[in-house]
Amino acid sequence: MKHFLEISQLSAQQIHTLLERAFDFKTKQTFPALTQHTLANLFYENSTRTRVSFELAAKRLSMNVINVALQHSSENKGEIIQDTIQTLAAMGIDCFAIRHSQDGLPQQLAEQCHQDIHIINAGDGTHAHPSQALLDVMTIIEHKPQLTELKIAIIGDVKHSRVANSLQWIFATLHVGELVFIAPKAWQPETIHYGRVTDDITEGLAQADVIICLRVQHERLHSHEQLDLNRYRNAFALTPKQLARAKPNAIIMHPGPINRGIELDSELADGPQSVILDQVRNGVFARMAILEWLVTH
Ligand code: CP
Repeated sequence: MKHFLEISQLSAQQIHTLLERAFDFKTKQTFPALTQHTLANLFYENSTRTRVSFELAAKRLSMNVINVALQHSSENKGEIIQDTIQTLAAMGIDCFAIRHSQDGLPQQLAEQCHQDIHIINAGDGTHAHPSQALLDVMTIIEHKPQLTELKIAIIGDVKHSRVANSLQWIFATLHVGELVFIAPKAWQPETIHYGRVTDDITEGLAQADVIICLRVQHERLHSHEQLDLNRYRNAFALTPKQLARAKPNAIIMHPGPINRGIELDSELADGPQSVILDQVRNGVFARMAILEWLVTH
């Protein structure tokens, strides 16, 4: 694996290998020293979790890390991203974590750049967020290891969610028992690769083992997709009343950042069934596994 671009490009064996290594890092707390390698974080969209998580992951592996300050970069003088990457690669940077609003840009850059570098998709538009999918599965396995027996419900703005897209691929590859997407019609995707879609939250959440709430992505909504947020909240927010439809020991997940009181109630986000901070913790170990894999294979 030269680049880490999409879950759909990974086999079940590769996903299991990455997960095993991530769990290994977490439990043993012994890390290789990859001092010859440097990660550049190129984040053209906002991020807290993913950017810091990649930085921490690289530092725990004794890699150098450069957070490129894009507001001061030469792209403001007209340089294209491909030239920025080639310039940084010429200085010896070999790993690039890229977040961008353009679907497919990391793949395109991976095809264009011929140096010996590794492109990591840290979230592209509405397309993919593969490291999030990996850390989400790691978190699910920690709490509910029998993936093939689980009912997983993903609720919210599925249509614009790169997280939902990557989760479909990873859940399909790992054969989760049942996958259901719950969304209002305006936020339902035209096609899905795995699972089914419903706007019936009662049926969708019934006996779920895992509930993944998605952020309402105000920045990606076109005018015809805007919904009244009060109506959305009343129909689709995860509230204690809705949670009662799932299994009593169901876990609640959210990739963050949370719109509290819109897609998820605070008392649930901070309650005993929430594993949201476990997701964040696991993100560092999952990204360590990704970085190590890229530079050692
Ligand atoms: N989950 C996620 O991608 O969060 P950030 O936008 O904070 O990186």
